Amino acid sequence: MKEIVIDFGGITNDNVEQLRIINSTSLPIAYADGFYKDVVKAKNETLNKYAYHNGFVIGAICCRVQDDSKIYIMTLGVLPSYRGRNVGTKLVQSVLDYANTEEAQKEGIQEIALHVQINNEDAIKFYERLGFQKGDMVENYYKRIDPPHCYILRKEL
Ligand code: ACO
Repeated sequence: MKEIVIDFGGITNDNVEQLRIINSTSLPIAYADGFYKDVVKAKNETLNKYAYHNGFVIGAICCRVQDDSKIYIMTLGVLPSYRGRNVGTKLVQSVLDYANTEEAQKEGIQEIALHVQINNEDAIKFYERLGFQKGDMVENYYKRIDPPHCYILRKEL
């Protein structure tokens, strides 16, 4: 399918509703208000961002730094009708690009990681294509979705 042009933009208090829409249409988990508050509070356009196409939000990625050495991808979603057009790749690649900068290396970032539900084969393939490796299965990681198990996916930098 045809690749589309996107711009990135930050997640703020004024536009955070868009993130709720992306997450609720893409992910099986309902994220609590605290998740959205933390993303806005982080004010970090490198780790938390929207993908815009023609002025409309069509995808988003949210990450945080964990254990001082890891970028953890909390959520990634692209609206269904815009999938398969490299939008997800560009969102993840933008975070990988940051992780490979001198600034991130100085901060001690060594790895980028995420959890993915074991039956989400599309997402597992998507991340493997970007160089992530499937690690251990964590049983009963999710409380309210079936299957409750996930894999850890990791990419060392
Ligand atoms: N349709 C077509 N190709 C897909 C799809 C899809 N639904 N999903 C993955 N791919 C593959 C393709 O093989 C493509 O390779 P190609 O360019 O060689 O054909 C490759 O992945 C690149 O995909 P993109 O177009 O960059 O991915 P997309 O923009 O569709 O985003 C994503 C991928 C984010 C996984 C999207 O399908 C989505 O929102 N899924 C639902 C939410 C989800 O599962 N998120 C990840 C959960 S884990 C987490 O959040 C930490």
